[in-house]
Amino acid sequence: MDLGLDGKRFVVGGASKGLGRAVAEGLVAEGARVLLVARDSDTLANVADGMRGKATTLAVDVADEDAAARIAAAVDADLGGLDGVLINAGGPPGGQILDLSDEQWLAAYQLLVGGPIRILRALVPKIAGDGAIVFITSTSVRQPIENLDTSNVLRPGVAAMAKCLARELGPRIRVNSVAPGRFDTDRIKTLDAARAEARGISVDQQRGEAARAIPLGRYGEPAELARLATFLLSPAASYVSGVSVQVDGAMVTAIP
Ligand SMILES: NC(=O)c1ccc[n+]([C@@H]2O[C@H](COP(=O)([O-])OP(=O)(O)OC[C@H]3O[C@@H](n4cnc5c(N)ncnc54)[C@H](OP(=O)(O)O)[C@@H]3O)[C@@H](O)[C@H]2O)c1
Repeated sequence: MDLGLDGKRFVVGGASKGLGRAVAEGLVAEGARVLLVARDSDTLANVADGMRGKATTLAVDVADEDAAARIAAAVDADLGGLDGVLINAGGPPGGQILDLSDEQWLAAYQLLVGGPIRILRALVPKIAGDGAIVFITSTSVRQPIENLDTSNVLRPGVAAMAKCLARELGPRIRVNSVAPGRFDTDRIKTLDAARAEARGISVDQQRGEAARAIPLGRYGEPAELARLATFLLSPAASYVSGVSVQVDGAMVTAIP
C-alpha cells in the first residue's frame, strides 16, 4: 500500500527517543520531511543525522509559553508549510491525586494540555491542504494506571480534545489519538524502576510480571506503534478521524 507520504511535511514531538523517534523514522522511511522537536539538542542532532537530509531539529520544551511561536517559526524556515503534526513529549510525573502538589498538577497540565493547545493554535493555520494530527496518549484514557494519576486524570481530557478537534477541524484536517500500553522506552524503564523500588523487588521481576500480564506476553517495540501512527498521519487514512486506537497487546481489560 502506498501511504502517499512522499514529500509531505510534519512536526514530530518527543522525536529524539522512544515512540516519537520511531514515528519520525516511519514518516521519513515513507519519503516525508520532518521537524524533530525535543529539549536536548545533541540527542536530536544524532537522530537527524541518520535521516539522510530529511530532518531538521528544534530544541524546545513544549510546555513553555514560547514553544508554539518557536516551532511555528521553524516550520516556516525549514519546511515551508505543513501537512501534519504528532503531538507527543515525555510523560507527566507519577504519584497519587492528593499527594501531588499544585506545581506538579500545573506542570502536567502544561505538558499534556496547555502546550499542545498553544502549538496547534500556531500550527493548524500552516496546514494549507488536507492534513492530519495524531496525539500520543496512554491506555490511561480507558483504564487508570496505578500511581500515575496525572495521566489518569488529564489523558482522558486529551482524548476528548482530539475528539473535539476532529469535529472542529474537519473536513480538511483529520485528528486521531494512539494510546500506548507498555513499550520498551526510557519512559517505561524509569517507571518500572520506580515501581520495583516501591515494591522492594528487582526491575527484572517487575518487568517480567508486567509483561506476563499482557495477553501478547511482552512489551511492544516502538516501531509497532509507529506503523499505526504513520498510517494515521498519512493520506491513506483519508476517512479515519476522531478515533482513539489502543496499541497495547490487549493489556486493557475494559470492554470494548
Ligand atoms: N512507552 C510507553 O509504553 C508509554 C505508555 C503510555 C504512554 N506513553 C506516553 O507516550 C509519550 C512518549 O513516551 P516515550 O516512552 O516515547 O518516552 P521517552 O522515551 O522518554 O521519550 C520522550 C521524548 O519526549 C521528549 N520530551 C520530554 N519532555 C519534553 C518536553 N517537555 N518538551 C519537549 N520534548 C520533551 C524527550 O526528549 P528530551 O528529554 O530531550 O526533551 C524524548 O524525545 C509520553 O507522553 C508517555 O507518557 C508511553
